[in-house]
Amino acid sequence: MRKFGYRIIDLLVDHFADIEGEPVGAKRNPGELIPLFDNDPPETGRDLNDLLAQLEHDVLPNNLHVDHPRFFAFVPGPNNFVSTMGDALAAGFNVFNGTWLGGSAAAAVELGVVRWLGRVCGFPDTAGGLFVSGGSMANLTALVAARNALLHDRIGGARVYFSDQTHSSVERALQVIGFSREQMRKLPSDENFRLSVETLREAIATDRAKGLRPFCIVANAGTTNTGAIDPLLELGDVAGAEKMWLHLDGAFGAAAILSERGRAVLQGIERADSISLDPHKWLFQSFECGCVLVKDVALLKSAFQIKPDYLRDVHRNAEEFNPGDHGVQLTRSFRALKVWLSLQAFGLTAFREAITRGFELAEIAERELRARRSWEILSPAQMATVCFRFGDRDDVQTQLVDRMMRDGYALLTSTTLRGVASLRLCTINPRTTEQDIIETIERLDQFARQL
Ligand SMILES: Cc1ncc(COP(=O)(O)O)c(C=O)c1O
Repeated sequence: MRKFGYRIIDLLVDHFADIEGEPVGAKRNPGELIPLFDNDPPETGRDLNDLLAQLEHDVLPNNLHVDHPRFFAFVPGPNNFVSTMGDALAAGFNVFNGTWLGGSAAAAVELGVVRWLGRVCGFPDTAGGLFVSGGSMANLTALVAARNALLHDRIGGARVYFSDQTHSSVERALQVIGFSREQMRKLPSDENFRLSVETLREAIATDRAKGLRPFCIVANAGTTNTGAIDPLLELGDVAGAEKMWLHLDGAFGAAAILSERGRAVLQGIERADSISLDPHKWLFQSFECGCVLVKDVALLKSAFQIKPDYLRDVHRNAEEFNPGDHGVQLTRSFRALKVWLSLQAFGLTAFREAITRGFELAEIAERELRARRSWEILSPAQMATVCFRFGDRDDVQTQLVDRMMRDGYALLTSTTLRGVASLRLCTINPRTTEQDIIETIERLDQFARQL
């Protein structure tokens, strides 16, 4: 066990220490990779060293390294080593984090970290929440609470409002919990990719006039496309006046509240009834680690708690916190451990600085792009995200993504903004250097001119 374990630790340490000198990862063809694993396990076990060698050859290099300092695609996963060790401990001790009885200390750690996150977001003492797999599950969990609290789960005629920049996980969550397409009011965003309060008010009024039941607004705090933040204060006013639930999808951006720059742009976050905030994004945790925060945690519990016979010992003491009563999962891993460990190990100042760096790196990228001919900024740097394109042909942006992937130095992806293809950099990795950004833009510029 020790030898095997030490070899794995060595692999991990080498990965963390040397990654910036390595390619940003590789995507192989299905025809090459699938046959390597599409077979039955051996009847007799294999040598562990052989297995590790196979992993080093076939598995570890053949993924994109979302933790690489020059991985700027989608939302990067710049995890930290302490968090990784937290996961190793949680898995090794196989801590059961579903009930107080099964894991009282685990539940206490989770409660403590979640309550702290709630305070950071300006939520009152009544707030609580849960660590979940990621933003998708956080959005789903919050929407179940909203449905239960405001509609008593009777969804006929109910309407949910969000902008066309909202992450697809919101639509999927609504679909999963029973809402039909026509119950989702996807509203056109304004010129800054934000939900327009005017458009929202009109949509609600129109629906009320038809006898429908507007019940929930989903706002964004950092859209995936551009990092746009919806007007939270005004949306809070609308939700308050209309007696609607305000859910904030801050899966990507809400963690920025820890930094001064984030606090300035996230004003009004406390107006939400629930917030999704992913520590596995801008809080530097290993996957899977999302978090759902609910202003009145009792509403989360009423939406989810069921007391089956075989859990009668679990439910004997009302003051005990049972995470499994607040979400979908009963058996759940001890996700809070890695968050707690890394917060304690690095301290908040390190987190604040690491988040601030994300804002700055996107600004450096924008500056470098503006300094070069034929690059157009489609959405300026905000929340560690900048969107841009070269010239006016969509196919060129797509080809640039492929060219960068083949090159292996840095990786970015594209999106569509207002009907046109846009390149996009997401710069939340605090290990990214200014030189990384400059060299990435330089290569993009060279490849673009070759194309
Ligand atoms: C704004 C936003 N919401 C939700 C999600 C979904 O989160 P996850 O992939 O962790 O389930 C993402 C993922 O990038 C996101 O950016």
